[in-house]
Amino acid sequence: MRVVCIGAGYVGSVTGTALAANHHHTTIIDVNQEKIERLSRGECPIYEPGMETLLPTLIGKSLFATTSYDAVADADVIFIAVGTPSNPDGSADLRYIKQTAEQIGKHLSGERFTVIAMKSTVPVGTCQWVTALLADASGLTPESDFTVVSNPEFLREGFALEDVFFPDRIVIGSVHPQGLSTMRRLYQGVLDRSGYEDLCQHFSFSYDLAAPPAVYFETDTKSAELIKYASNAFLAVKISYINEIARLCEALGGNVLDVAAGMGLDSRIGPKFLQVSSGGSGSCFPKDTAELLSASEKVDSELMVVKAAVASNERMHQYVVEKLERRLNGLKGKNIGILGLTFKPDTDDARRTQASYIIGKLLEEGAQVRVHDPQGMGMFRELNPDMPITYCTDPVQTGQDADAVVLLTHWSMYQEMDWQQMAGMMRQPYLLDTRNFLDASRMRTCGFDYQGLGVAAKASPSLGVMGK
Ligand code: NAD
Ligand code: UDX
Repeated sequence: MRVVCIGAGYVGSVTGTALAANHHHTTIIDVNQEKIERLSRGECPIYEPGMETLLPTLIGKSLFATTSYDAVADADVIFIAVGTPSNPDGSADLRYIKQTAEQIGKHLSGERFTVIAMKSTVPVGTCQWVTALLADASGLTPESDFTVVSNPEFLREGFALEDVFFPDRIVIGSVHPQGLSTMRRLYQGVLDRSGYEDLCQHFSFSYDLAAPPAVYFETDTKSAELIKYASNAFLAVKISYINEIARLCEALGGNVLDVAAGMGLDSRIGPKFLQVSSGGSGSCFPKDTAELLSASEKVDSELMVVKAAVASNERMHQYVVEKLERRLNGLKGKNIGILGLTFKPDTDDARRTQASYIIGKLLEEGAQVRVHDPQGMGMFRELNPDMPITYCTDPVQTGQDADAVVLLTHWSMYQEMDWQQMAGMMRQPYLLDTRNFLDASRMRTCGFDYQGLGVAAKASPSLGVMGK
């Protein structure tokens, strides 16, 4: 099939590449010239494991990248995967969706029936609104010349290729027969896993033929739009909940790793998303929970559980700052090292991270901060240009004359670094591991006064069964 994917960001570049790998003639369109030039050279515009090997094998063959919307004219399916950031009141800012719809509308030829599939996370009713925008801009007849279907994306950064090739579910929101049949045809390769043996040589994960195939779930458009927000908000609630239990463990003397592992053994709860952190974050959870709350308040149906989870998540960021403050007897004049600026490992995405909140508070309290991240320092600096912090290319250097080092993101490289050298260069070798990621006894042998989160009762936390 001929496919167009609009947006070359975290979703669009991976989605476009996956569709091309599934033998669809795919064109990625973006207004950002630099991203398009990189894609055209076979380079991925974002850091996402596996893309660096898969993309060069497809570009110029089944995958093309351009700033021109011309490919829209003869596309069977057009994915919209542009950003939907937050307005100041929390509601979704749909300006990029509007611009995209107007551009698509101007380029639709009407010579073939076209399905426009909404992959961006958008408020309930957006597909309907986009239908009207497309009709205005094209002069074509909705549901006769084209249809808009909701196809929310559930990929996780860092596991994006695994998630697009082996999704748990594919959700399609439409009641249009041709819209439904076109989307089924498009996803047939994912449902059959045809050609996956060849594909999987590019992946860092092993291909399990026995793994259950994706569930293909069709519903109406508004329900599909809501499934995306409701899922992300549910996961955000789960994280806030285990983080509250971690705080309680510190107060009462339990071990949250064992509590989470024990809870996760109940198949109704499950072991995933019970991993303690300084609070969940990133480009999706904060904005999607904010939009859902904003939408629910507007119709007098406030989601109280989600509201509490958002407040609890911010409390967790603050708790980490307070824990440091207590341990160091104040933060003024203290040197703090931060390991990890991205909201999770294996991504360069530094939008709306725990680190920006926590570092901001440390600076407000008069601390000096040295930071390291293997992929995220460029974007973090771009997004926080006025933050007076020192960027270190070597993680060990964040410990220079430090009173504390805080691990915020569990990059695997932090397992391998020279911790003994770091302990030796610190003013006080206090190490706060907000992910309970490092081996406590090894850290103590290296000379650290080591603390995790929620593991007050045990000197050496056990390794629980955690989600990926
Ligand atoms: P992003 O900011 O990384 O990428 C968006 C891209 O769209 C940018 O490259 C931008 O230049 C481009 N763009 C903006 N206006 C355009 C236009 N008029 N024409 C062509 N290109 C245009 O965003 P993202 O993280 O990929 O997210 C995209 C959408 O997918 C959002 O709605 C997001 O909520 C949703 N989503 C994101 C993730 C994720 O992990 N990042 C996961 C699931 C869903
Ligand atoms: C999320 C959803 O998981 C994905 O389905 C959706 O498509 C986009 O939003 P992502 O933003 O990539 O994906 O990150 P995710 O893996 O969900 O983690 C979000 C935040 O929660 C990160 O800061 C992560 O470190 C944190 N987290 C996650 C925890 O603190 N504990 C956990 O157990 C899991």
